[in-house]
Amino acid sequence: MKVALGFDHAGVKVKRQIIKYLEENGFEYEDFGTYDENSCNYAEYGVKVAEAVAEKRADRGVLVCGTGIGMSIVANKVPGIRCAHCHDTFSAKATRMHNDANVLAMGERVIGVGVMLEILDAFLHTDFEGGRHIARIAKITETEEKYSVKQS
Ligand code: RB5
Repeated sequence: MKVALGFDHAGVKVKRQIIKYLEENGFEYEDFGTYDENSCNYAEYGVKVAEAVAEKRADRGVLVCGTGIGMSIVANKVPGIRCAHCHDTFSAKATRMHNDANVLAMGERVIGVGVMLEILDAFLHTDFEGGRHIARIAKITETEEKYSVKQS
C-alpha cells in the first residue's frame, strides 16, 4: 500500500516518526511536503495529497497540520476524497469500516506523536466492511456529484 504524506509548518515535526513507522511496517510512501518549519499554507499540501489519492497515485493519504482541521476541510473538497479528522483509535477504525475513509487528518498541536502513530496504525490496518455502508457512501458520492462544477 502506498501512502501520500502532507504536512504544514505546524505538523512537520512529526514527519520523521511517521516515515519511520511506515518504513518499519512495510508501507511505501511519497512525501508531498512541507519540508521545513517555515510558515506555509496547509491547503497547498492538503490538496496535493488529496489529488494523489483521488488520481490513484496513492492508496491512502495522511495529513498533519496544527489541528488537522484545515487539512481535512481542503482534502474533502477534492472529488473522491473521504478525509477523516481523527484523534482517537476508535474513530480511525470506525471511519475505515463504515466510511471507507481514504485520507486521515490529525493535529500535531492536539495529540502527541505516540497516540498519532496508534491512530495511523489503526487507519492503515482496518478494512472497509462494505454491506450496508455501501449505499451510505453512494449517497456521499451522489451529493458530491450534485454540487460539482461540470467541466465542458
Ligand atoms: C497554522 O497556524 C494552523 O492554522 C494550521 O496548522 C491548521 O491548524 C489549520 O487548520
